[in-house]
Amino acid sequence: MRVHVPGDKSLTQRALILSALAEGESRISGLLFGGDAESTANALRALGAGIPQIPSDGSEITVQGVGLGGLRSPGSQLDLGNSGTGARLLLGVLSGSAVETTITGDESLRSRPMRRVTEPLSAMGARFDFLAEDGLLPIRLRGKRPLQEIDWSTPVASAQVKSSILLAGLTGGASALITEPEQSRDHTERIFRQVGVSTESRAVADGWRVEMHNPPNRISELDFRVPGDVSSAAFLLASAVLGGTAASLDIVGVGLNPTRTAFLDVLERMGAEITVETDADDENLEAKGTVSASLSSLTGTHVGAAEVPRMIDELPLVAVLGARAQGETSIRGAQELRAKESDRIDAVVRNLRVLGVDVEEHEDGLIVLGSDRPLKGRVEAFDDHRIAMAFGVLGAAPGNDIEVDDPHASGVSFPGFWELLRELGAGSHA
Ligand code: S3P
Repeated sequence: MRVHVPGDKSLTQRALILSALAEGESRISGLLFGGDAESTANALRALGAGIPQIPSDGSEITVQGVGLGGLRSPGSQLDLGNSGTGARLLLGVLSGSAVETTITGDESLRSRPMRRVTEPLSAMGARFDFLAEDGLLPIRLRGKRPLQEIDWSTPVASAQVKSSILLAGLTGGASALITEPEQSRDHTERIFRQVGVSTESRAVADGWRVEMHNPPNRISELDFRVPGDVSSAAFLLASAVLGGTAASLDIVGVGLNPTRTAFLDVLERMGAEITVETDADDENLEAKGTVSASLSSLTGTHVGAAEVPRMIDELPLVAVLGARAQGETSIRGAQELRAKESDRIDAVVRNLRVLGVDVEEHEDGLIVLGSDRPLKGRVEAFDDHRIAMAFGVLGAAPGNDIEVDDPHASGVSFPGFWELLRELGAGSHA
């Protein structure tokens, strides 16, 4: 069965931001129609960019950009909802803009660490006041142009941190050099190239280094098609592998950027029947293609620190698959999971225990013991789309009966997820 997934969340955010910063009209299509995209689009509208309604069918929109120095202070605070990427990337964009504003978000976002971006951005010259608790949103920000150049080493491999600094460098006209312990997703570097901004990246002794020297003072319009989100595709692939879909699935038009695809390697390592076919064209400098999967029997595996950044959003799903694999599945070196939309280690461990799965919690991960016993119970979404969907997938597997308390949490990245899961379902349990 051929299936499409919603547009990539990371690329949607970047496409919206760069088309807002371009001079003139950008044409973008395939955008995610979901809560996180809407949050970022709303903030950019309040800052003066001409962004029409995001269509639900991925059709093209034309964005009227304001230029690198053209954002204006909004009349009210910017609420980024549940979107950590939106908040952190905009903190960067606005650091290099002559803008004063307050950025906030929902309860989940207001509990997520922001110092990892405000520290380097302060070093570049922007000013931040934490209005509630130290290091957390809401934050009052005063941007500055030009900013000072920066050479920053971040202790976490984070595309949000890297991108925030690069975007500040771009709007603030400052060189930005960043070292991270492992390479994080490189969408910003690739989309920068599309608008005429060059960066250089290479492996170094202490990790991965990205350098942007002397950014230009204007960027060209974007003409960009966002591919399907491989992190959303992952849920459907996992469902097919667990027998939760009536037939094998071919997910078409899905992004296959190599900094995002470690989950596909892990699925294969667990014994899943999957194939990956890359489309020949190199449109957007972002690879895309078709990923197919069918019912498979799985064996446990180990995921360690080196793989974590390339599959950070898929780790809850690996734990869930581990509950249905033979033997042990361990995830370690994944401390970052505690700083996502929820504490994803805690959330997964609690939910698996409710279902009677044998799971051991570690500060930096977990170890799950698989079984083929029917799994039944009511689990929590913890305000986290990926936790809701991971347990939705487990619940759709034959023999299981799992209720997720707040299925709507999936709307920020995958509207229509539950309907699609039911549509593809192998039986009434779905
Ligand atoms: C994202 C980066 C990832 C990921 C998030 C989107 C991005 O976070 O978890 O869903 O678009 O830059 P980090 O790389 O910051 O851990």
